[in-house]
Amino acid sequence: MDADAEVMILSNRGPLGFARRADGTLEARRGGGGLVVSLGPGAQRAGALWAAAATTPDDQEAARAGRVDAEGFRVLPVALGAEEYRAYYDVVANQTLWFCVHGMWDLPRRPRFDRHWWKAWETFKEVNGRFASAAAAALAPGGTALVQDYQLALVPKMLAELRPDAKVASFLHTPWCCPQELAVLPDEAAVELLAGLAGGGPVGFHSPRWAGSFRACCDERLGATATTFVSPGATDADDLRAVTASAECRRELDDLASAVGDRRLIVRVDRIELSKNVLRGFWAFDDLLEQRPDLRGEVVFAAMVYPSRAGLAEYQAYAQEVQTLVAHINARWGQPGWTPILLDPDDNHPRSVAALRRYDVLLVNPIRDGLNLVAKEGPLVNERDGVVVLSRHAGVFDEIGGHTLAVNPFDVRATADALARALDMVPAERAERAEALRKVLDARNALQWFDEQLAAAGGGAPA
Ligand code: G6P
Repeated sequence: MDADAEVMILSNRGPLGFARRADGTLEARRGGGGLVVSLGPGAQRAGALWAAAATTPDDQEAARAGRVDAEGFRVLPVALGAEEYRAYYDVVANQTLWFCVHGMWDLPRRPRFDRHWWKAWETFKEVNGRFASAAAAALAPGGTALVQDYQLALVPKMLAELRPDAKVASFLHTPWCCPQELAVLPDEAAVELLAGLAGGGPVGFHSPRWAGSFRACCDERLGATATTFVSPGATDADDLRAVTASAECRRELDDLASAVGDRRLIVRVDRIELSKNVLRGFWAFDDLLEQRPDLRGEVVFAAMVYPSRAGLAEYQAYAQEVQTLVAHINARWGQPGWTPILLDPDDNHPRSVAALRRYDVLLVNPIRDGLNLVAKEGPLVNERDGVVVLSRHAGVFDEIGGHTLAVNPFDVRATADALARALDMVPAERAERAEALRKVLDARNALQWFDEQLAAAGGGAPA
């Protein structure tokens, strides 16, 4: 393979997915997800070669042909078998590392670092090694590699060792945890994890809070100071505007308008994800309806929560709990002609954007979140001077917290009170806050974020 890529991106999920056409040939389609959306504009402008996991049979077949150019992206598929993907992605990345950095351990039961887990850890290392080797073979002399997220946490050091000439930076889209939370990981794995990240160029985070926690972990466990940088991510505003202007989004907005009528609307848009704190959001809404009889029949909560990581028992159980709770709240308060919570499990992007255009209150209450792009997208497209109720533990709080109603995401009563305050807010204050949010958000875009990663790697940003 030619070592000709001046800039590479490495991430688990890539910008393309493959599906079979009726004539049997493979068609590349643009994939979604916050990480891919934010990286897209920079990747396209830089002509970056994007290494990403190929896991489905169709992806694997496309991978056999080598590099794929489609939809304005250049992709280098890294083929992973089903068993190894389960070990690397489900067991280690999502069941272990994700829970660790979000502080979500259910310690009396999990994690269980048994022999099965250690085998999965070996597979995690092998898969990270495969990404590092693929990048080492494709990167031009002195080229730049931007390694994305916890799934590839061991790649930075591996790649720096394979290609000392390469400029490497990594970026974590997650939060980072304190040393005490990290101490749940077995010593050997914790040290390999920290060294894997810190040993290959600077490590970027969306918030100085996560960068500080990461350095504290490295100080304590590696006895060495890690180099970090902070660069809050941004959404692809052009793409968002294009969706907003689409006929499909208009149709979805009309449908929502007829379902909601002239009632006030609370919206959330999330994956069904434990860290998003979906249950406490509904408990808060339940409390709101209990405390405020005047709001019964007058407010609708549209929850666009779509399935995620469905292969994990924790996520299946959580999705079930969400559904049961919604059914309970709707049965408790619903009246003919008024369903308090509209639960929408379809991952329908134009519909989610329509909900963001229409909300009066946007609820973003994660227990911990690397950034939270929805809190950035909502105010950019909202047409009603909607108020954002925002968890203090979301990375985006650093940038926009002052213009939102801040909540401790664990405090259900406080969340209910914030929802009430948002619904009661006078138009002048709503307008003022919405304007301030737009101003902050307009000042930063996805290309700047990408350039800051290039600059951190030492690759400089194109003029
Ligand atoms: C979100 C998180 C990222 C994570 C991604 C993976 O975007 O912010 O940190 O890499 O989800 O999601 P997936 O569905 O691929 O597991």
